[in-house]
Amino acid sequence: MAHNSKIRKAIIPAAGLGTRFFPATKTVPKEMLPIVDRPAILYVIEEAVQAGVTDIVLIQGRGKTAIEDFFDVSYELEDKLIKDGKEDILKQIQFIRNSTNIISIRQKAALGLGHAVKCAESIIGDEAFAVLLGDEITISTDQKHNVTYNLIKNCEEKQNSGVWVLPVEPSETHKYGIVDLSSKHKDSSHKDLLSGLRVHGVVEKPKSDVAPSHWALPGRYVFQAEIMRYLNEIQPGYNGEWQLSDAMNLMAKKSDLMAYSLESRRFDTGDKLGFLQANIELALERPELRDGLLKFIKGKL
Ligand code: UTP
Repeated sequence: MAHNSKIRKAIIPAAGLGTRFFPATKTVPKEMLPIVDRPAILYVIEEAVQAGVTDIVLIQGRGKTAIEDFFDVSYELEDKLIKDGKEDILKQIQFIRNSTNIISIRQKAALGLGHAVKCAESIIGDEAFAVLLGDEITISTDQKHNVTYNLIKNCEEKQNSGVWVLPVEPSETHKYGIVDLSSKHKDSSHKDLLSGLRVHGVVEKPKSDVAPSHWALPGRYVFQAEIMRYLNEIQPGYNGEWQLSDAMNLMAKKSDLMAYSLESRRFDTGDKLGFLQANIELALERPELRDGLLKFIKGKL
């Protein structure tokens, strides 16, 4: 299998039904819900761009054209922003538009994350690529050297695949794909995982007593192109969906799939509590909002 050395493509799946956010998500994709004043997916796209990605493949579902429209030129609005002296806001959008190709693909039915990734097969070709879940935000101290940047760097160097893992409490394992690092490394620490440990398998949403480790997949991956072959081999699995983790299990048997623990804050904005936490924490970091918000919160305690 040919390996291209530079990783330039990223898939951002954003076609899920977002049932945890009904009824808001009936017409608005959860990836477009605002975190302070920016849609969640904008943080995700920025992470990819800062990691050197030039081609972003957005996987969108029915009624999700709001995401596509977001990156279109809106002459009227842009003209007004310039007239109002709000060029900073404009620059953020223009930066994304000018530094990436945004390719939009329709996932005709929400058949699972594995299926969503497979929808981009013809655009990926034989290149390695990143996958960033559209409702998961990471905030790194050094945004240029973010989670996707580090995964890409490791996978380019080693010509293999890699995933980001985070430690979770036993009460949380049933919400995630949990990696099997072999019994020898079951209780590995952040330090052990800094330079990567081999993934032997992934168990989708296990209860704590059967979880193979406490290391969860929060939604950042880099794959060599052969994952598409494994995605073509799988059948619907857990929950009747085409699971990315099933293809990862096939991959882990044949080639190197590494797990990395990388320093970053992370918010699951597709979850109500995660969404509120992201909004509060990131709003507190805005000088214009901090005092007012703190006063409000203190008044509620
Ligand atoms: P989630 O499992 O968080 O999305 O998928 P969901 O199914 O929309 O969530 P709930 O449980 O119903 O609230 C993780 C990511 O994968 C995308 C989602 O949009 C999300 O960004 N996804 C999921 C797809 O693109 N297609 C799918 O078929 C499933």
